[in-house]
Amino acid sequence: MGGIDVTAALYAFLFYIATLLLVVGTGMKIRRYAKAPAPLKIPTMPAPRTQKGVYFRMFREVAFFESLFKSNKWIWLFGYLFHLGMLVVLLRHIRYFTFDVWWWVELIQPFGIYASYLMIIGLIGLLVRRIVVERVRYISSPSDYLMLLLLIGIAGSGMLMKFVMPTDIIMVKGFFLGLIRFQINDLPSSPILLVHLGSVAFLMIIFPISKLLHGPGIFFSPTRNQIDNSREKRHIAPWAKKLEE
Ligand code: HEM
Repeated sequence: MGGIDVTAALYAFLFYIATLLLVVGTGMKIRRYAKAPAPLKIPTMPAPRTQKGVYFRMFREVAFFESLFKSNKWIWLFGYLFHLGMLVVLLRHIRYFTFDVWWWVELIQPFGIYASYLMIIGLIGLLVRRIVVERVRYISSPSDYLMLLLLIGIAGSGMLMKFVMPTDIIMVKGFFLGLIRFQINDLPSSPILLVHLGSVAFLMIIFPISKLLHGPGIFFSPTRNQIDNSREKRHIAPWAKKLEE
């Protein structure tokens, strides 16, 4: 080691700031969603008639993207491939932050390779759709492209490290385990790793002000999380209840 590694110090600072903004920013958004009034009963029909039914509906929505499947098979296919791939890739990444590595994280390591293919195929499919389908291109904003390109950049640089220009992953792990203990350890001097990590930090920073908030947001969607019981029970929004008291 010896001396101060300027790049490592910069990236350490970047990741502390990014983590803070991600956690606090997303927390604030979730608080706002939780407090937003839902004055009307508007579950998309046919809707579950019990709370258990709502849990089951939400599960199908999160695990299989059910309503997207019903509305558009192409977006479902590419969106599902991307999200499923990313899930396995992220679970595989847990090994950089834990010592010892948990047994099930070790178990999924070989699948990570295939998962990165699914992820990049899904992302490219979604990008091509945005460019090729005129109706979708018309309503696409720069931030829609930015999100896709950023995720493609992260997945692409990750795959480059995995398949073409390997980096010292033990050293990467040492760096992140160090950050958890408030120590700054060296980072490998690999430009592609710096691109990977820089893009991840950027994604973390913009997450709370981006469309990626649909992740936590789905759980607060009244059309999905309400029970169809308006015949049995009068619906009064929480704020209206306060007025009645
Ligand atoms: C601080 C967080 C992260 C660190 C330290 C990190 C580090 C790494 C490293 C060292 C590799 C190369 C793996 C190898 O050579 O075996 C890699 C690969 C990869 N990373 Fe990341 N990464 C991070 C976050 C992310 C995120 C958020 C995504 C996706 C949104 C991502 C997507 C990928 C992909 C697709 C690969 C290639 C497939 C694989 O090896 O699993 N990474 N990452």
